Amino acid sequence: MAVVCRPARVDDLKRADEIVVASINELTERRGFGKMATSHPPNFQAFSLRDDSEGLWVADEDGEIIGFAWSWVCGELWFLAQLFVSPGRQSDGIGRQLISKTFDHARMRATSIRALITFAFNNVSQGLYIRHGLFPRFPIYMVSVPRDQLASRLAEPRLHLEPLTAKTARFDELAVIDVSALSVSREKHHRYLLGDSTTSGFTIHAGSDCVGYVYISEGHIGPLAVLRQDLVGSAFAAALSFAARSNSPNISAFVPSASEPALKAATDYAMRLTFPMLLMSNRQFGDWVSYLPRNPGFM
Ligand SMILES: CC(C)(COP(=O)(O)OP(=O)(O)OC[C@H]1O[C@@H](n2cnc3c(N)ncnc32)[C@H](O)[C@@H]1OP(=O)(O)O)[C@@H](O)C(=O)NCCC(=O)NCCS
Repeated sequence: MAVVCRPARVDDLKRADEIVVASINELTERRGFGKMATSHPPNFQAFSLRDDSEGLWVADEDGEIIGFAWSWVCGELWFLAQLFVSPGRQSDGIGRQLISKTFDHARMRATSIRALITFAFNNVSQGLYIRHGLFPRFPIYMVSVPRDQLASRLAEPRLHLEPLTAKTARFDELAVIDVSALSVSREKHHRYLLGDSTTSGFTIHAGSDCVGYVYISEGHIGPLAVLRQDLVGSAFAAALSFAARSNSPNISAFVPSASEPALKAATDYAMRLTFPMLLMSNRQFGDWVSYLPRNPGFM
């Protein structure tokens, strides 16, 4: 039976997400980390499809979806959010077919930066990406702590958070922070997050100066970005203080190993390293001291 890679349609996205969740959990359980993924409505995928339909592909075998690839573009940055093949169908060339479609997307948009976040413990994905010119840069740790343990350790934060909404957001100010941290503006992604009812956005302030932003969703912190590297530890501590007042049983974040102050804060607050991930890219980019991603798909 022939496997065809075709553009994804909106009604493919739920099934594609089921494959992604199954594929992640098969891998993380096989490597002894336990289950990592749970299903969510594919809202960001649907947003990306509306924004740029050439970034989402499915591998289809006689009407059954067995693989999914999804990339998005912001300015010069092409980011591979997901590349997954059904657990029973891996190592048969399907990932190679999907990646070639998604690299066509990067070429079409003429982006100079190509990047992704993969599992630090998956030799197959890393081998595939290295073969395509994306090289390992540094680990990114998913960190987590039970909320009741965190609450007892927190001191009064040095920086304060102010609510950010679609109505009040100064998108030009957010763009300055993103260009400083990532070298591209992510205005459309701020608009997406600010429209998501499960996510709260904040600007981060030192006195009257806006020095960064952070989003928090069900106890998960990220993305977080600050204008200066020396602010990231305090900004992360302020986000932890806010998250500690929620009802979420666990508080979590993604912390790049390049961000020593954030990693130190995570350790000081007894956060455990749960999943080691890895940033891969075709070249160095961004200031990963000052930026904590949301997850491997959103970056
Ligand atoms: C990663 C994944 C998408 C690859 O898809 P696939 O259909 O299994 O892979 P393919 O058969 O098309 O290609 C395999 C390629 O991986 C690379 N590879 C496999 N094992 C490797 C190893 N031990 N060392 C280095 N490279 C390896 C090779 O480049 C190989 O191509 P080749 O056989 O021509 O040499 C799939 O295995 C998967 O879904 N894995 C679990 C989830 C995951 O890690 N996804 C990536 C998230 S960013």
